[in-house]
Amino acid sequence: MTKLKEIYKCQICGNIVEVLHTGQGELVCCGQPMDFNEQKNKDVGKEKHVPVLVEEGGKTVVKVGEELHPMKKEHFIEWIEVIYKSGKTCRIFLKPGDEPKVEFASSYEVAKVREYCNIHGLWANN
Ligand SMILES: [Fe+2]
Repeated sequence: MTKLKEIYKCQICGNIVEVLHTGQGELVCCGQPMDFNEQKNKDVGKEKHVPVLVEEGGKTVVKVGEELHPMKKEHFIEWIEVIYKSGKTCRIFLKPGDEPKVEFASSYEVAKVREYCNIHGLWANN
């Protein structure tokens, strides 16, 4: 059974999906089960992935990570997302060359921030 907001990836074609409504079935793509993308919360390597939430001039800013992650064509942050305590979610898609730092509305209380690296997968701040 899937859970809301889980991320799955197809290892064959690269499709990535998010669960928007839970169900009993297994997610399948290209004839095989999709891989569950478990979120990571602790940086270990040279590159920093854990998204950092900061308040800047009354705005909610999320950056990836403490030291900004590369944004090259072959290795970049695909999106940054804020999940508010109310359940509202806001996701900004990025492209190579963009800064991995995004400003979000600060009118709601933040529960969690997540980001997706095209090579290293899903990361969250908690
Ligand atoms: Fe990465």
